Amino acid sequence: MKYNKCWLNFNPINNYGDKEFLTEIIVCTGNKENNSLIIDNAIKELTEALNKMLNIKVDQRILASEDEAATVKSGIILKLTDDSTLKEEGFSIKQIGEAVYIEAKTDKGLLYGSFDLIRRIAQGQSIRGLNITENPKNNFRMLNHWDNMDGSIERGYSGNSFFFENDEIILDERIVDYARLIASVGINATVINNVNVHEAATELITDRYLGKLRTMADIFAGYGIKLYLSANFAAPIELGGLPVSDPLDKDVEEWWKNCIKKVYEYIPHFGGFLIKADSEGRPGPFTYGRTHAEGANLLARILKPYGGILIWRCFVYNCQQDWRDYKTDRARAAYDNFIGLDGEFDDNVILQIKNGPMDFQVREPVSPLFGGLKNTNMILEVQAAQEYTGHQKDVCYLIPMWKEVLDFETYAKKDGSTVADIVSGRAYNQVNCGMAAVSNTGNDYNWTGNDLAASNLYGFGRLAWNTELSSEQIAMEWIKQTFPHEDKVINTVHEILMKSWPVYEKYTSPLGIGWMVNPNNHYGPNVDGYEYDRWGTYHRADRDGMGVDRTVKNGTGYAGQYNEPLASMYENIETCPEELLLFFHYVRYDYKLKTGKTLIQHIYDTHFEGVEEVEKMIEGWKELKGLIPDDVHDRVSARFNMQLENAIEWRDRVNTYFYRKSGVKDEKGRKIF
Ligand code: GCU
Repeated sequence: MKYNKCWLNFNPINNYGDKEFLTEIIVCTGNKENNSLIIDNAIKELTEALNKMLNIKVDQRILASEDEAATVKSGIILKLTDDSTLKEEGFSIKQIGEAVYIEAKTDKGLLYGSFDLIRRIAQGQSIRGLNITENPKNNFRMLNHWDNMDGSIERGYSGNSFFFENDEIILDERIVDYARLIASVGINATVINNVNVHEAATELITDRYLGKLRTMADIFAGYGIKLYLSANFAAPIELGGLPVSDPLDKDVEEWWKNCIKKVYEYIPHFGGFLIKADSEGRPGPFTYGRTHAEGANLLARILKPYGGILIWRCFVYNCQQDWRDYKTDRARAAYDNFIGLDGEFDDNVILQIKNGPMDFQVREPVSPLFGGLKNTNMILEVQAAQEYTGHQKDVCYLIPMWKEVLDFETYAKKDGSTVADIVSGRAYNQVNCGMAAVSNTGNDYNWTGNDLAASNLYGFGRLAWNTELSSEQIAMEWIKQTFPHEDKVINTVHEILMKSWPVYEKYTSPLGIGWMVNPNNHYGPNVDGYEYDRWGTYHRADRDGMGVDRTVKNGTGYAGQYNEPLASMYENIETCPEELLLFFHYVRYDYKLKTGKTLIQHIYDTHFEGVEEVEKMIEGWKELKGLIPDDVHDRVSARFNMQLENAIEWRDRVNTYFYRKSGVKDEKGRKIF
């Protein structure tokens, strides 16, 4: 086997009590011919799962009418309903008598209900008396793959692409298993190519590739997933030979009309485009003096009659900054570029906003755009790919970070305006909103490089479906579906996951300052790596202190982009949350934190602690030898060895750097070079 099935391994569950309800699958939505591919897939999943987990060989019966269904006394009954408490993708599961009813308004709902039932059984949970109704909190639950057509993956840490190789599209069994995996956690849309669209990828929207993409899109559709593509804003020039790609140019409009018509001829259920424009060298409307609304709306208008969606990224900033310039602030950029356009985007445009104002650092404040835009559809973008959080060598369970973002109250309204309220569409009654994650997958045997990193892929889907799930619960669900049900295994892995983000933060860059990574590849420490560079990513350390002054009073003014009381809270060093202290303030090394420690002592202590905690995680993992499959144990152990080396290097470099800058000794006299 070239790859494993992650949390869909369907490991045997011993002594499961409720087998009597699960003997057959009865579908009462019509006769066999009328069944959709989605329902067929739901039946397939249930059949395989029950067989592998419980050793039950289920019979399948397809019943046409309600009357016939009423005669059925036991089994799993999949039924379409018009229950008004259910949304289009929602479902209910009820165990009544000797039967389990999965009901939904749509085939997709039945598929999600089937996966939900499987998830419960896989965790060994009883389904006796089960009575639940589930509706997704977010309509858009997307993955963004940064896969290139040559097979490489930008910021990919799990091998190569399973979509592309040598400028060709791969269509093999793995595509089906990919669709199964992501559908099982509720993901309903995927962008398969990198946001940086170059060369062959520009041609994905042409005859050269659309035939194969149709096949892929059909596989996805069988699991309720829509295919999207990243498109090149300069495609009219590069493919059409036009002199410009000005969104207000008639020929450009005509070109896109023909292009999009063709895309939908091939793929009638195509989702739409994701666009990175005027960002890090990518083309965009600024070239022609046009706004991002003009750029996005041109494409959205053309997509609209086909039901297409246009997703436009807000990762737009000046990446040519002079380090001597203390006023320009990259953190301000997304807000400054987009706030003035609020209300100008068509209703099938969605702005996709990174969780923080910089770039997926281990700790950032929440982007102020979420609390600023009020008449614009929004998607929250997070990064499951661990670009700045350890490259899937170091373990870093990211769900707690994403939870903090979702739970963040923006004060855009008097109440009920957390990021989760906003991106779910609840706050302003919007439909086209949700969450996207930069995927952490590749063609490695275990999909995610580090076996433990699959928890982030799993967790993203679960969280996007239900933002109210806790990080602990999501971790527990994933563990029980992945590992043998031994208390020691469950508890150890749970502890490792829950500690991993705080531990990673401890040994890397302190108190929200971010960066300090090796330039370009972004793994390992290099305190000054980006300090004198053009990217606008500074720590501003000198002999007295460090941090970026982003106050309105003396700094870049970034703090003023938040609604009150947040703006004042960040502005004032006394009320600024300490984990973000250096993001908002220049702070002296002898400044006393709430713990009573000075800033410099805090840096020393956390870096020593970080390494010690990695050592403890490794000890815990070692004890699982023999309790989990050897190959998994060995792979993760090898990653832990790399993590320990990395943590030690971070500790020593950061501590030494600040010791030499400040001249202040460690109170505890530990070894600092
Ligand atoms: C980061 C990342 C790039 C990526 C960019 C983006 O800067 O390093 O590789 O292209 O984000 O989100 O567009």
